[in-house]
Amino acid sequence: MSLKPVQGKRLAATTAVLAALAFMTPYSGASAAEPTTAATNVQPWLNPALDPDARAALATAAMTQDEKLTLVFGYFSTDAPWKNFKRPDGSLPDAAGFVPGIARLGIPPQWQTDAGVGVATQRSPHPRERTSLPSGLATAATWNPDLAFQGGAMIGNEARLSGFNVMLAGGVNLLREPRNGRNFEYGGEDPWLAGIIVGNEIKGIQSNHIISTMKHYALNDQATSQSELDAVVADAPSRMSDLLAFQFANETGDPGSVMCAYNIVNGKHACEQGWINNDVLKTDWGFKGYVMSDWGATHSTVDAALGGLDQESGFPFDNTPWFGEPLKKAVAQGQVPQARLDDMAHRILRSMFANGLIDDQVKGDQAASIDYDAHGKVTQTDAEEGMVLLKNTGILPLAASVKTIAVIGGHADKGVLSGGGSSQVYPRGGMAVPNEGPDNFPGPMVFFPSSPMKALQARTAATVIYADGKDLAAAAKLAAASDVVIVFANQWTAEGMDVPDLNLPDKQDALITTVARANPKTVVVLQTGGPVVMPWLNDVGAVIEAWFPGTSGGEAIARVLTGEVNPSGRLPATFPASLDQLPRPKLDGDNHGPRDKLYSVDYNIEGAAVGYKWFDRHGLKPLFPFGFGLSYGTFAFNDFHAQPSGKAVVANVTVSNTGKLAGKTVVQVYVAPVVNAGWESPKRLGGFAKLDPAPGGTSVATIRIDPRLLAVYDSGSKTWKIAGGDYKVMLATSAADIVDTVTVHLSAQTLDVRGK
Ligand code: BGC
Repeated sequence: MSLKPVQGKRLAATTAVLAALAFMTPYSGASAAEPTTAATNVQPWLNPALDPDARAALATAAMTQDEKLTLVFGYFSTDAPWKNFKRPDGSLPDAAGFVPGIARLGIPPQWQTDAGVGVATQRSPHPRERTSLPSGLATAATWNPDLAFQGGAMIGNEARLSGFNVMLAGGVNLLREPRNGRNFEYGGEDPWLAGIIVGNEIKGIQSNHIISTMKHYALNDQATSQSELDAVVADAPSRMSDLLAFQFANETGDPGSVMCAYNIVNGKHACEQGWINNDVLKTDWGFKGYVMSDWGATHSTVDAALGGLDQESGFPFDNTPWFGEPLKKAVAQGQVPQARLDDMAHRILRSMFANGLIDDQVKGDQAASIDYDAHGKVTQTDAEEGMVLLKNTGILPLAASVKTIAVIGGHADKGVLSGGGSSQVYPRGGMAVPNEGPDNFPGPMVFFPSSPMKALQARTAATVIYADGKDLAAAAKLAAASDVVIVFANQWTAEGMDVPDLNLPDKQDALITTVARANPKTVVVLQTGGPVVMPWLNDVGAVIEAWFPGTSGGEAIARVLTGEVNPSGRLPATFPASLDQLPRPKLDGDNHGPRDKLYSVDYNIEGAAVGYKWFDRHGLKPLFPFGFGLSYGTFAFNDFHAQPSGKAVVANVTVSNTGKLAGKTVVQVYVAPVVNAGWESPKRLGGFAKLDPAPGGTSVATIRIDPRLLAVYDSGSKTWKIAGGDYKVMLATSAADIVDTVTVHLSAQTLDVRGK
């Protein structure tokens, strides 16, 4: 969050508010010393041999009331002069957040940085310049959990070496609304794919002995009227969709913290909605970490404390320091039990112990030792595997015989686009295209200095000529005179805003149509935050969805265009043919309405039938289905079979690379009851695997289908119920292309709320 008017509400700072915080333990900037044996005798919670719960219990017992309160109250880590706010001593400049430590007990501060694609900086004249992964959606498009882990490990390393020990990453909101400006931060529309990919990213981040969040919990699926929007949804469908993505990510990544969201859920602000925080997260799933609020998402003291919030973040984004003096009073007066405050402190400390924040403390700014070359390769591989070849009449990969290439639009001569808002990572070497995008949050629009055109020129003997595409006639003339045309089309999306529709902005559809008419050998490279429509699709020869491709995006794009990399990305979200196909052709809410007005969005319309499930249920034909993506090579699938295995189903298939090119492919397995079993949609993704058989060789995929994906959640009994009967297990190359089907018989089963 940059200090921006939160959904139009400017935050009012008062001196009184700052004075009210005076009880906070004074903090000395130095990090607490790491424990010695002598120290662990006196301070037994510093003994790494004890389990994290025991250590948290010992430390909490040793704390004064004010020390406990210190842990539950976070500050913004950036000066906000118009709020009369200076970031606290010991915090890091231009960063997201800071929670003071308790030096006397050996507890270091929490230095919090955004976000999911790398170490971000608030809008500042002196941004940290760090490595950016491609967008979260691009990583989901790899369908490769190992790459998600490696990407997480890489950005977590940069966070650590930048002095941070909490990374506000792990965005796993389902892509329920393709116009949501933050879809690029997330893992797509399917709970299993999103949960596994984002869970692995979280695991990778935390492998650096820092905490990652999982966010924005929950149902924060659009920006329009974000803080005034009540997401209305029943228990069962939410547990089978949005919450299921969080549940899978939690099981996979075991995040130290969960960030509750700005929106309202079934009538209560997410950060005080006991149903999602206490019942679902902490009780049903057994989450032992702490819930922190989004910046400006706390709205009360007692309701939030009782509704499951453990740490208020980013003061002064909230006008009142709810978890400061008011919480102290509420505990003294018994409105919030002492045990609840102790639980908050325990949860925060437990995550710090469990993730190594105390035994392996961050050592301040060591950014000079970041291995940017190695990290550039990690992000490049991620970007390459996430690119989705959507159409190819044969003009890709570019032939050696091509003599002239026109590169048109998208600032492809300079760099690649990134998504905006609090997650913005600033590139090393400065912004490739200055002065683009809004002057205020969520601007600027940042292009990373990795030019696809230059990377292409370095790989081809052809003459490459650039036109910016602003002059349609000039672009058409250049296109007609070239062997091949590559148009770069951008859709910048950002936090705090939804896109009005799914068309490319700035008349780029007209540009593509004009250029393709002048030369049908036109390749379109899309850099978009999410799905777009393509009115020109029939006119062009090839389309690559490159998403926001990150620090090394230009190289990655050029390598896919030339065939050095065989594309293997698959869509993590349906690309609709038009807005009419969506559950809500028009977005609910109104960013221009009065700020105190509440809106609601009825997610019961589609319930758990998000994305392809909605399209299947209504027999709608999308522009491109979920899971779709082409290759330059050919693969064959053989010996597909499936059988029950314990409570799950296991499917196996042999995949052969039948071509001459090396390349990866994705095996997708969907499941469906033969007789209606009360599912939200005809079929669900049950599992997937990314394989890499050598040319002429084979690989075998073994895919375990989580039993929850074969069940319906029953709210009354808090169980998952699998109906007895026959189930189709389908091998597919997308949600719309089934290659082979086998049938398994399952006996009726009941699983507990955790799917066991
Ligand atoms: C965003 C969070 C972010 C926080 C801190 C908020 O605006 O919603 O994702 O972590 O700011 O910058």
